[in-house]
Amino acid sequence: MSATELYDLRTECACDPLGIGVRQPRLSWKMRAGRRGARQVAYRLRAAPDVAALSRPGAPHWDTGTIESPRSGQHPYEGPALQSRQRCYWQVRIWDETGSPSAWSAPSWFEAGLFDATDWQADWIEAGWSERADAPRPAPYLRRSFELSVPVAKARIYATAQGLYELHLNGERVGDAVLTPGFSSYAHRLQVQTYDVTALLRPGANALGAVLGDGWFRGRTGASGARNRWGTRVALLLQLEIECADGSRVVVCSDRVWRSATGPILSSDLRDGEVYDAQRAQQGWSEASFDDRDWKPVAVANHDRGRLVASAGPLARRREEFPPKRILRTPAGQTVVDFGQNLSGWVRIRVRGPAGTRLEMTHGEALDGEGNFDLAHLGALGMPPPGQRDVYILRGDGEVETWEPRFTTHGFQYVHVAGYPGDLTGDAITAIAVYSDMRETGSFSCSDERLDQLHRNVVWSMKSNFCEIPTDCPQRERSGWTGDVQVFAATGSFLMETGGVLTKWLADLAAEQRPDGCVPNVVPDTLTSGSRLARLATWVNGSAGWGDAAVLVPWTLYRVFEDRRVLETQYESMKSWVGFAERRARRRHWTKWLRRPREHDAYVWDTGFHFGEWLEPENGTVAALVRVMASSVLFSRPSVATGYFALSTGLLARIAAILGRDRDAARYSALSQRIREAYQREFVGPDGRLRPDTQAEYVRALAFDLVPPSMRPRLVERLVERVHAAGDHLGTGFLATPFLCTVLADERELEIAYRILLQTDWPSWLDSVEKGATTIWESWRGIDDDGNPHLSLNHCSKGAIASFLHEVVAGLRLDPVVPGWRRFLVEPRPGGGITRARAAIDSPYGLIASDWRIESGIFALHVVAPPNTTARVVLPTSNPEEVRESGRALAAADRVAKVGVRNGRVTAELASGVYRFECPICVQGASSTPGPLPQRAGETPVPGTPLAPGDRSERFRSRRLRMDSPHSRVQEETMS
Ligand code: BGC
Repeated sequence: MSATELYDLRTECACDPLGIGVRQPRLSWKMRAGRRGARQVAYRLRAAPDVAALSRPGAPHWDTGTIESPRSGQHPYEGPALQSRQRCYWQVRIWDETGSPSAWSAPSWFEAGLFDATDWQADWIEAGWSERADAPRPAPYLRRSFELSVPVAKARIYATAQGLYELHLNGERVGDAVLTPGFSSYAHRLQVQTYDVTALLRPGANALGAVLGDGWFRGRTGASGARNRWGTRVALLLQLEIECADGSRVVVCSDRVWRSATGPILSSDLRDGEVYDAQRAQQGWSEASFDDRDWKPVAVANHDRGRLVASAGPLARRREEFPPKRILRTPAGQTVVDFGQNLSGWVRIRVRGPAGTRLEMTHGEALDGEGNFDLAHLGALGMPPPGQRDVYILRGDGEVETWEPRFTTHGFQYVHVAGYPGDLTGDAITAIAVYSDMRETGSFSCSDERLDQLHRNVVWSMKSNFCEIPTDCPQRERSGWTGDVQVFAATGSFLMETGGVLTKWLADLAAEQRPDGCVPNVVPDTLTSGSRLARLATWVNGSAGWGDAAVLVPWTLYRVFEDRRVLETQYESMKSWVGFAERRARRRHWTKWLRRPREHDAYVWDTGFHFGEWLEPENGTVAALVRVMASSVLFSRPSVATGYFALSTGLLARIAAILGRDRDAARYSALSQRIREAYQREFVGPDGRLRPDTQAEYVRALAFDLVPPSMRPRLVERLVERVHAAGDHLGTGFLATPFLCTVLADERELEIAYRILLQTDWPSWLDSVEKGATTIWESWRGIDDDGNPHLSLNHCSKGAIASFLHEVVAGLRLDPVVPGWRRFLVEPRPGGGITRARAAIDSPYGLIASDWRIESGIFALHVVAPPNTTARVVLPTSNPEEVRESGRALAAADRVAKVGVRNGRVTAELASGVYRFECPICVQGASSTPGPLPQRAGETPVPGTPLAPGDRSERFRSRRLRMDSPHSRVQEETMS
């Protein structure tokens, strides 16, 4: 038997994290074993201040002894209380299913940052001159030099800023993160980064330098592009702590000794871009030998330190580079570079030319119908589009100059270059994608290249919209719209390790929640904060489906990563949101003032402003959006709001039960039942139709379980009718699109689900793919048939369709009960002419995969279940005797148990391991949808799932699976 190996030791979400702010970080590991059935039955953890002490008898300061437990993740460190700056090494060993111990893992470590405000000796420092508040301002350069008399043993910088900072030490850039200290709810939480700078220091003269950018803090943000949301002065707080080889300690802080000057960055703004005059660069400005006598003394400021928190999520970094795909001359005579990929980031240029030459690079997502560079579609509701223009003014010393901006990002595929001296060639310009450095975990591919492209587009919209916070789009508003996060969080958490970014963002959400529980529609609030004018718009906050992110996002993190702590930390925020909805629902809408109150009125949320379904196909223009908003102001969106009210309340009941808060669980469970009943009385007509009679409403009612089982068939029937009426096209918008195809598939309408998925004309996902999209569009209209762009071309939300690809096409799905991939389902449901599909995720337990193909009528499925997981497989045949696993009859297969047939399909339980199943595919014709799917050359059509219509037990099973969709958080939840 092969030995078990332990790998990928993690503290919180990270490997060997420096500067953590959690006093009891959670420890996790993965197991590797080349056999089936591998699992952990016990573990032992130990920790020590240095590696050698880990194995010295009696030396570890924490040793759990052997603990019987199958859990390999999220073990809180319970050693002696962690102090600021303390590093802790740890390792683990486990006992496997045979009782054999593994070897001790390789050591891992974590190091604490500064926990308390009192750890700081540094002063906040600012530029030593006054600045205008109403215009772009030059970036302050700050520096100081200092002496060290002895060699350095260990050195750390703790740093943050109001605005953005970039640090230099002895002429070297410190770290490789960009846009630090990141974006958070600055009034409440300001992130601090920790750097190991031991190797950059030397005995003798040293120098520290910092450049400050406007960033989110005082640059233009949000839909209105207002400046100075959090303040007018950028400032630095920095503490360099040095342990010298002789045991002495030196601390160099930001303080009044520092000097300041303007430099080459004439202005920097996230929306408008950066202007850099290379003629003003001061060579060696962060080196000790630099003469800073011309520089001004800095101003010392007294900004709050109580809001300092350690940086939790992964930092933003430069992640990928793209050479130009083509360089065009447009009909209007513009030189435009097409990178072939829409992304968020910036470009690096190489240029040689006369001093003072002004080179302008304007970034956009699309060309217009005539083929000219176009930004007009990025104006939000009549606002001017963001500038997205970087300017580089050449030094002109005869050498090649290489430059890229540092305090801006742009959403772009095209760059309009003006003023380039000579011919612009492909090697002169490179696009750089910049986003939070999350681990990429999920993947998908199949036999239909169009779906593969669609999936790549989803991934790129995610990469473009997870830079420090999850955003709606990377070019226009760049805002933490709560609804956008809510609809995409589950899909995104399959594709990447989102735990760090989303947990941090949830802390911002809780910090910005109003005392009455109302959640701002945008977090951090760049919509209704800052100016008095902006504050007038606070009445739009608390939109249902947006504010529900307060409950749905923590729930997703729990489901996907088994993160129970986030449920605990966000619990009050969730309760407070549901309390807000409850009180709002009790208010009477003006249209009901003259009516006698009915008992269920108090549970129908029919007051306040809600975006509603938002951006259904027919509402894809600015004029339509204005109309939709005006009607919401007058009439609210009661069915949407009541649906989300029921969903969030029901989930809160389950969360309360998970956390052992039984009284809350009972209260919210009863409340959610009342809301469901009220929904039925208010929105289900006597003919079984919903009001409004739209695809979205049926999808929501089915996905959120808003109606009793007896009503479901009628709703499904009507949903299918609505889809047919739309020519078998989707008719959903922002909120219901993520569920549409999965709900249909789970309700035995697989064929129609595939038909919607594979439509290629408007409105559909593949319309965008066929028009060459490389990201997901905000509006179904995106680029019209004349080639003109509409709204943003890079929004994650409709990319939630990727979950259908993972869960239904490839068949990989979270178990409805057990969180965190500890147990999962493999149930591919082939259709749409697809002959092979594969989805895989690097789960908290290691690689999980479902990989199937159909050849000559044989369905072959390859399943990977890592140690410590179990899976249930469901095969598209009804006869177990026809199934072979690794060449053997199923009954004789190793570690395959409980073989059975349910609802016409073979099911079996798998222990961890690698499995290869084969069976003849059972072709079923019965379906309520008319006509065959269009067949593509050389492919065998594979109709829908083999289910007998009207089978009640199947109906029940379908509901359970439907509830398992990460988009439908309605679960039978238990903690084992
Ligand atoms: C954003 C959306 C957002 C919406 C509110 C838009 O301008 O880009 O993604 O959720 O406003 O409905």
